[in-house]
Amino acid sequence: MCGIYGIASRKSITNKLFHGLKKLEYRGYDSSGIAGISQDRKCHVIKSTGPINNLKKRLKTLPNIFTGISHTRWATHGEPLLKNTHPHHSGSINIVHNGIIENHEDIRNFLKKKKYSLTSDTDSEVIAHLINYNYKKCNDMRLALVGSVNVLEGSYAIGVINSNLPDKIFAASSGSPLIIAKGKNENYIASDISPVLNDTQKYLTLGDGEFAELSSEKVIVFDKKSKILTKKVITTNIKDEQVSLMGHKHFMHKEIYEQKEILNEMKNRYVGHTSLLPNIFGPGTDNLLSKIKHVHFVACGTSYHASLVAKDWIEQHSTITCTAEVASEYKYKKINILPDTLFVCISQSGETADTISSLKKAKKLGYKDTLAICNVAESTITRLSNLVFLMNAGPEISVASTKAFTSQLFSLLLFSIIVSRKHGCAERKMVSDIKQIDKIINSIFRLEPEIKKISSKFKNKDHTLFLGKGGSYPIALEAALKLKEISYIHASAYHSGELKHGPLALVDKKMPVVCFLPDNYLAKLVLSNLAEVEARQGQTFIFTNKKIPRKNKKVEIIKMPDCPDLIVPILYIIPAQLLSYHVALKKKTDVDKPRNLAKSVTVE
Ligand code: G6P
Repeated sequence: MCGIYGIASRKSITNKLFHGLKKLEYRGYDSSGIAGISQDRKCHVIKSTGPINNLKKRLKTLPNIFTGISHTRWATHGEPLLKNTHPHHSGSINIVHNGIIENHEDIRNFLKKKKYSLTSDTDSEVIAHLINYNYKKCNDMRLALVGSVNVLEGSYAIGVINSNLPDKIFAASSGSPLIIAKGKNENYIASDISPVLNDTQKYLTLGDGEFAELSSEKVIVFDKKSKILTKKVITTNIKDEQVSLMGHKHFMHKEIYEQKEILNEMKNRYVGHTSLLPNIFGPGTDNLLSKIKHVHFVACGTSYHASLVAKDWIEQHSTITCTAEVASEYKYKKINILPDTLFVCISQSGETADTISSLKKAKKLGYKDTLAICNVAESTITRLSNLVFLMNAGPEISVASTKAFTSQLFSLLLFSIIVSRKHGCAERKMVSDIKQIDKIINSIFRLEPEIKKISSKFKNKDHTLFLGKGGSYPIALEAALKLKEISYIHASAYHSGELKHGPLALVDKKMPVVCFLPDNYLAKLVLSNLAEVEARQGQTFIFTNKKIPRKNKKVEIIKMPDCPDLIVPILYIIPAQLLSYHVALKKKTDVDKPRNLAKSVTVE
C-alpha cells in the first residue's frame, strides 16, 4: 500500500528513479510523484495522477537530479488528485510517506496555529510541515526528524530530502516497511527490494523507531536518542527477472505458470521418499507440533482462504480442532484459548496491518506458540513470530494472488501432516499423493485454450455463483474472489448444499454457476445440488474429473485430470485463476492492477 523509492547517488538518477518506482506500482497506482535535487541545490518536483506511466511525460521537464525520492500512492486520506499526490513539500523539505497518521487532525491544528497553510486532504502532508518546523528551530535534520516522528501516532515509512542538504536522504519507519539498500556509489530507500535488484542484492531493514541518513557514500542508522545502530546487512537471492514480465503479458499469467516450478521445488526441499523430511518448520518443531491439540488460523483475503483449506485438512486427518478467522475480526474478538493451542498466521507479504495486529494480540494471549507462514523473509510478521515457515514463492507482483495461494496451501499441507502424525494420519499415502502434483499440473495448464473459450460466456455477466463442498468450498471462495478482483463481476461463493437456502432464488437462465466437483465421496451430493440449478435453466460450468453426461448446452464440463482428493484444492484453483484472467482480458481491465485494490494492505 503506497510505494517509496529513493536514491542518493553521484550520478544522475532521473530515469532510474522512474523505472524503479514502476517496480513498486503493484503497491498502489492512484497517483505518483518524484522530488529530486539537482547540482545547483534546487529541488524539482513532478507529479501526476493515475498509473506511473502518466508521470513519464513530465520526466523530461526534470533536470539531472542526484538525490531523489519517489512515491506511488494508494489513496486513503483524500481522493487521487494532484494536490494529494506525494511528495509533499514545506520550505526546503520534501517527503514521501506510506502508512497512516492517526492524529493528523491534531497536528494540522497545531500547524495552522504556527501559520502553515495545508493544501492537501492527506494525513501525510503534516509530516512535511512538522519536519520543516522542527528543522527551522534546530537546523539539524536528524533532530528535526526524530522530534517530528515523536508526535506522530499511527504507522509510517517516511523518506525525506532537504534542498539545504542536497546529497542526503533521511528516512524513518514504524509499523510500515522500509528497506535501505547498499549499492556502489549509491544508496537507496525502498518499500521492498524490487526496485534496486538491478543494482544490488544487499539491504537492511529499518525497524520500528529507527532512522537512517543516506548519502551516495554512507548509510547511518540511528535511534531516537541519536545512538548509531549496527544493522545486519542481508543479501537477497531474489533476481531482477523474478520481478520482470519475462515475455508474459501480465504478471498474473506469469505467476500462474510459475506455480509448477514453485510447488516442485517445495516438494524436493521438504518431501522425502515416504515421509516428510524432519523438522521442516525449524529445529525441534516436529516434537513441538506433535503436541498441538488446537490451531487458531488468522489471515486476510486469499491467505484466509488458504487457512480454510488447512482447517479442513487437519480436521479430516486428526482430532485437532481448528478455527480460521479473518484478521480484521480476530483482533476485536474475545479469544478463548484452550491449552496446547497454536496460533498460525498466514500472509504473502508479511506486512498486512490486520494480520500484524492479530499476531501482536496473540503474543500477549496464552498460546503455546505463534507460527507465521509467509513469503517475505524480512517482513514484520516474520520478525514478530516465534516460528516462521517461508513459502519461498518469489515476489508476487500481480495484486490478485495466485502462486502465493498454492504455495501457502503446500506449506499448510506439510503442516497438516506434521500436526496430524500422532493421530495416525496416513503419511506415506499423503506423501505419494503430493508427489503427483507435478504431473497433474501439466494437464491443467493444457486446459487454458478451452478455458479461454469459456471465458467469453462470462464477459457480459454482472453476477456469478461459485459452488463447492468440503475441501472445494474454500476453492469456490477463492475462485469467486479472483473473478471479482480482476474482472469486476460480482461473484458469490456458497457451500453447494446452501444453494436451496437462498441463493437459488438468483438462478435464472442468465446466471452462470461455476462448480468444483472432484470425484470423491461428496460428488453425488454436489450433483443433486447442481440438478437444482439445471432445473431452473441456470448455466453451469463444472470443473470435474467425474464422468457426467452433458445433458444440454447449458452444461459446460471442464474435464479435470484425475487427482487424489488430498491435493484437489491445490490443483482445482489453477483453472479458476486462468478463467478469471481470461475474463479480465476480455473485459480489458487492468489485470495486474485492479481498481481500488493494493497488493500489500499496510493500513487497518
Ligand atoms: C490484499 C491482497 C490479497 C491478499 C490480502 C492479504 O488484499 O490484494 O491478494 O490475499 O491482501 O495479504 P497477505 O500479504 O497478508 O497475504
